[in-house]
Amino acid sequence: MRFLVTGCAGLLGTDVVAVLAGHGGQVTAVARAELDVTDPEAVEAGVRGHDVVVNCAGWTAVDAAETHEAAAFAVNAVGPALLAAAARRNGARMVQLSTDYVFDGTATTPYPEAHRLAPVSAYGRTKAAGEWAVRAELPAAHLVLRTSWLYGAGGGCFPTTIAGLVAERGVVDVVDDQLGAPTWSRDVAELVHQLVVRDVPAGIYHATGAGRASWFEFARAVVEAAGLDAGIVHPTTSDRFVRPAPRPAYSVLGHDALVRNGITPIGPWQERWEQAARDVLGGS
Ligand SMILES: NC(=O)c1ccc[n+]([C@@H]2O[C@H](COP(=O)([O-])OP(=O)(O)OC[C@H]3O[C@@H](n4cnc5c(N)ncnc54)[C@H](OP(=O)(O)O)[C@@H]3O)[C@@H](O)[C@H]2O)c1
Repeated sequence: MRFLVTGCAGLLGTDVVAVLAGHGGQVTAVARAELDVTDPEAVEAGVRGHDVVVNCAGWTAVDAAETHEAAAFAVNAVGPALLAAAARRNGARMVQLSTDYVFDGTATTPYPEAHRLAPVSAYGRTKAAGEWAVRAELPAAHLVLRTSWLYGAGGGCFPTTIAGLVAERGVVDVVDDQLGAPTWSRDVAELVHQLVVRDVPAGIYHATGAGRASWFEFARAVVEAAGLDAGIVHPTTSDRFVRPAPRPAYSVLGHDALVRNGITPIGPWQERWEQAARDVLGGS
């Protein structure tokens, strides 16, 4: 199977390329310099000759999107629309990565795949538009994979930030009132592979670690994995950490669509973090 992976130099793209190639896939990996997803001609030429497009490109600067929404929209919505249209013309399937930020965060139980979208940030709006575009262009050949709280060895992420902060300051305050699911990018990459090779029906799937955590709880797990005392992580609240883009207070996603299609969801986040920690924190 011939895969085109856009955004290959990002956190997720790095693992997607490695995992697909590791499973014997023929992978064309393109970073922004080789294929800008907002460039219609580059997209058309890039998609040609591939069976599956995996779009790992994205505007992921959540706070900057508040003041640069048009630019974020170009990458997160127009880009996927162009890729999906080119995929349709070339008879290819497409995997579009999306986010828990398409929801409003007011739920108290895991969001089902079909839950109403109600993003509360500019980033979330642009990602929701990207989902819509891909579904509209490829009704029978899209896989929208929503993930959340990604960490991995392919780029900076929450665990590396926390490790850096404790090294610098000795202690760190982390919000305890936002709940979500930490997710290892390698697990998402494995799901991308499985969903494609098992030819699951077009639709929306949730690729997140099982269970739930607050950022504070995740930070404690990070510090413990680094061999430090979890007591150096102190809980705080979001109102003391005001940022330009509002964050959903609750963004745990349910995994029914995977289960319904015979795919095992990603395991409990604590176990997956234990598995990933050495790799992510730099072989310590
Ligand atoms: N990180 C998370 O916690 C998280 C959570 C939920 C969903 N997601 C989704 O997962 C996907 C991958 O995210 P990530 O964490 O891997 O982000 P990332 O590390 O920021 O990677 C995104 C990549 O996209 C590239 N890119 C930006 N604009 C582009 C353009 N116009 N054309 C081509 N490539 C472009 C970036 O290149 P440059 O570095 O050169 O800009 C970067 O390499 C995104 O769709 C994101 O929305 C991420």
